[in-house]
Amino acid sequence: MKILISAGPTREYIDPIRFISNRSTGRMGYLVADYARKAGHEVILVSGPVSIPAPGGVRLVRVETAEEMKKAILLNFPSSDVLVMSAAVGDWKPASPEREKVKRKAEWLLKLVPNPDILKEVAGLKKNGQRVIGFALETEELIRNASKKLLEKNLDLIIADTPAFFGEGGRSRVAFLYRDGRKEEFECMERENVACRIIEIIGGD
Ligand code: C5P
Repeated sequence: MKILISAGPTREYIDPIRFISNRSTGRMGYLVADYARKAGHEVILVSGPVSIPAPGGVRLVRVETAEEMKKAILLNFPSSDVLVMSAAVGDWKPASPEREKVKRKAEWLLKLVPNPDILKEVAGLKKNGQRVIGFALETEELIRNASKKLLEKNLDLIIADTPAFFGEGGRSRVAFLYRDGRKEEFECMERENVACRIIEIIGGD
């Protein structure tokens, strides 16, 4: 199968030098890409800026902003069997980024506007046989919030996790919520096992 995977953070520039981003390391998406490749799938990895190397044998598409990520995903989705959207897409971007580097000043009030919800848009384009998988990082009401996103974004599967996955920790409470209402919950799951389970699920249909 052809698997399209997004990973890492996005950067939303406020001037040519400075940007707003998030704590994503890209580890989850890179692991999914690695397992997918080892399972014999063709893999396209659309990645925001991260400091880890890409697994061998995958096609790496580097992007910075949410708009660039959206373009790369829309371009590659029609020929893909599965999309795994594990990127931490910035939900907002500066309303009017400055063209020149802003000089030091006493106060700088930034106005932010929403970025497109890439996953929701792409899930709306889904054809028969294509599957779309998303993630939901939650700090509260893990299952309830993730179930809502599963429905709102029209996904086949959503993986709910917590900020415990940030940095080197690598273990979190995790829930797999399926479109048909099935649910698998794990109190403490390693990132590797999450990636491995996703590839099992993809291969299992
Ligand atoms: O709504 P929330 O941001 O929690 O949804 C998370 C899921 O949606 C993730 O799979 C993420 O990659 C995706 N997403 C997206 N575009 C955004 C925000 C999130 O594709 N602007």
